[in-house]
Amino acid sequence: MKRRNFLLSAATGVAGVAVLGPGSLYSYDIFKNERKFAVPPLYEGESKDGKKVYNLQFQKGEMEFFKGLKTQTIGINGAFLGPTLRMKKGDAIKVNVKNSLGYDSTMHWHGFELPAAMDGGPHQVIKNGNTWKSEFTVTNNASMLWYHSHMLHQTGLQVYKGLAGLVIIDEDENKKLNLPDEYGVDDIPVVLQDRNFNKDGSFRYVTAMPERMMGIHGNYVLVNGVIAPTLKVKKKLTRFRILNGSNARFYLLGFSDNRKFKVIGTDGGLLEKPVTMNQIRLAPAERIDIVVDLSDGKDVVLKNHKGALGENEGMMGMMSQRMGLDIEFDLMKIDSKNAVKSNRSVPASLVKHPKWDPKDAVAHRDFDLNMRGGMGMMSDPHNIFLINGKSMDMNRIDAVAKKNSFEIWTIINNSDMTHPFHVHNTQFKILSINGKKPPLSEQGFKDTVISDRNTKTDIMVQFKDYSDDKFPYMFHCHILEHEDGGMMGQFLVT
Ligand code: C2O
Ligand code: CU
Ligand code: CU
Repeated sequence: MKRRNFLLSAATGVAGVAVLGPGSLYSYDIFKNERKFAVPPLYEGESKDGKKVYNLQFQKGEMEFFKGLKTQTIGINGAFLGPTLRMKKGDAIKVNVKNSLGYDSTMHWHGFELPAAMDGGPHQVIKNGNTWKSEFTVTNNASMLWYHSHMLHQTGLQVYKGLAGLVIIDEDENKKLNLPDEYGVDDIPVVLQDRNFNKDGSFRYVTAMPERMMGIHGNYVLVNGVIAPTLKVKKKLTRFRILNGSNARFYLLGFSDNRKFKVIGTDGGLLEKPVTMNQIRLAPAERIDIVVDLSDGKDVVLKNHKGALGENEGMMGMMSQRMGLDIEFDLMKIDSKNAVKSNRSVPASLVKHPKWDPKDAVAHRDFDLNMRGGMGMMSDPHNIFLINGKSMDMNRIDAVAKKNSFEIWTIINNSDMTHPFHVHNTQFKILSINGKKPPLSEQGFKDTVISDRNTKTDIMVQFKDYSDDKFPYMFHCHILEHEDGGMMGQFLVT
């Protein structure tokens, strides 16, 4: 298929040859030079004085995403991205984060319920050369969460260069479900991140006006740090836990043969029941936990379908068409030729969620997502995107919630594009989208919700065990260029 690509235009891939600089996403066989699928190293911590201790170091590195070309990167205990931290619900953990980057950064625990001072947001800067200690008890349910830089106005750039990693939380009780759960064997982590490169192989992160508006989109997608890898699966029933770790790109995921898969979990853990689907939308920061039947032994490609941005009207929809963002492309190839029978299965019911009654909410707040109109947007790059008419201010508290309480938050999007809205320190439930119940696959625990144009989304948030009169938590759009562009606010839990 020919790609139409107005603003980016120019270079198109020639069979098997990497084309750098602006160009379209793969109109050639990207899998030709079989690149090996990379599983992020597992790090289970060291037990010490009843705690699990993890030692992390932010460092500079170098990767060879393209043969013969070097890319300067940053990573955690490695050149690019970080290890997958595995822990159990109930563990007391202690994480030492040493920053050896040469500049300041932070490490945020995305999706965790934890004390505000341990959250790793913009208030917990780790100066170059320093070590930050984050200690808390894991109270989240079994799930895949992640960690990433949350440096004020620098999050987009730092995550782009590699400051992110996964966390897997286990619960012993879930063992009896018999789901595939052997890391890297039949339980495969998948981090999707699109990137642009310069001709010399270096990352290309330009924030001209169109990129500021749409967020940075890349013309290559890294899967755990590898462009279009091939995974040779070992088991005929394989679980994929997918993180959209991209700065701004939404995906509409599915398989090349449209085969069905079972969605078993969302951001915050397992669903009550699996949901069978063949396409699913994933916004930046969202995770999805799926199980795929590969017993036919055929090669299949995990791909992006057209339509990830949802509704395509309005200025931003038009821009996304013009920038060639909403196209179909391949992500990774799955080769199951040598896969053997699995003794795992997906039960008809998974876990029970507590029943939350909206009547128990003690406060109701509105969050109106918008952007500055006219020339306002040109003046200050960190004051373009707004929540309730304001851009992020470290010295302003936007809301004060009570510890051990429920609230209903209404996310109102009358802006010209879709925003993924994320709240720290909670796994919430979506009550309704424009008055309607969310689809089954979104009825699980979430920390990030897609807010489409012209929608009102009610979520029920719970703030559990922690309070702090001084340090706030963040809520924000998880398009990182929007977050850096001001679309973030702060709340205290007291
Ligand atoms: Cu994924 Cu405020 O972060
Ligand atoms: Cu977060
Ligand atoms: Cu946004």
